[in-house]
Amino acid sequence: MAGIRKGIVLAGGAGSRLYPLSRVVSKQLQPVYDKPMIYYPIATLMMAGVDQIMIVSTPVDTPRFRDLLGDGSQWGIRLEYAVQPEPKGIAQAFLYAEDFLAGDPVALILGDNIFHGKMDLDRTMAEFDGGASIFGYAVNDPERYGVVEFGRDGQVLSIEEKPAQPKSRYAVPGLYLFDGEVLEIARRQKPSPRGEYEITDVIGAYLERGTLRVEKLGRGIAWLDTGTHQSLLEAGQFIGALEARQGLKIACLEEVAFNMGFIDHAGLAAVVADLPHSSYREYLEQILREES
Ligand code: DAU
Repeated sequence: MAGIRKGIVLAGGAGSRLYPLSRVVSKQLQPVYDKPMIYYPIATLMMAGVDQIMIVSTPVDTPRFRDLLGDGSQWGIRLEYAVQPEPKGIAQAFLYAEDFLAGDPVALILGDNIFHGKMDLDRTMAEFDGGASIFGYAVNDPERYGVVEFGRDGQVLSIEEKPAQPKSRYAVPGLYLFDGEVLEIARRQKPSPRGEYEITDVIGAYLERGTLRVEKLGRGIAWLDTGTHQSLLEAGQFIGALEARQGLKIACLEEVAFNMGFIDHAGLAAVVADLPHSSYREYLEQILREES
């Protein structure tokens, strides 16, 4: 069962914290500098070798994501869509993706999570051989996240969702790798006191079975938050600063597809020919010239 080729991007939810921005345009469609937010988690999956992706979102927003992203063929991948009727929790994502999963292992990424830096995710995905793998990332405000507690020898002791008294500074980012058992585990779940099917409870089930791995992400990796107006602005500034300095784009899906070998030079040229005249198109035209 080695390796993960499938991913789910969870891009629903109420997005209420970004009101009034999110009144009409869902959170994951908001701009992070020069691209819609959802481009970033999709790029993270693609760069890890995932070429079958299911987007799960609300009844209203799912058609908008389909308008934006299509069936993925332009990027040499397969994109499918599923509707979550109500935002009752992250762990529900698996229930709506049953046919897509077909018992295979999967990477779940939250549509508002942005990662940047060398995570070696392609290797982690390729070597994945069952259980669950998550990450731990040191943050200033762990109480806002799922928090992982480590023992003296680095073993995982507990996972808690938004604890008032965090047992460590390590938050669990919204990127999780699960084997095919996850669907059954999610099915057996009960809602938490706040009425949600919590992803931390799914992770807890793997911890109990002794098949949970947690990899700490170092300070060379950026895991950016987009949950508040301030953090959304800062994420945009971070991406903008890097892109301006290097002249290279982050999460340009056409470029990622090309670099991953999902499309070839002719495929890239065909996509670019369909793009409106913009700095985004000019950037890709430059890549086409450099690579020819
Ligand atoms: O960002 C990482 C954190 O994400 C983790 O550390 C937490 O353990 C995890 O519970 C989650 O916490 P949040 O409070 O950030 O979750 P939020 O409700 O904001 O949902 C995260 C994303 O998932 C957001 O893009 C909306 C989407 N979502 C959420 C729910 C509850 C859905 O699509 N459907 C849902 O039912």
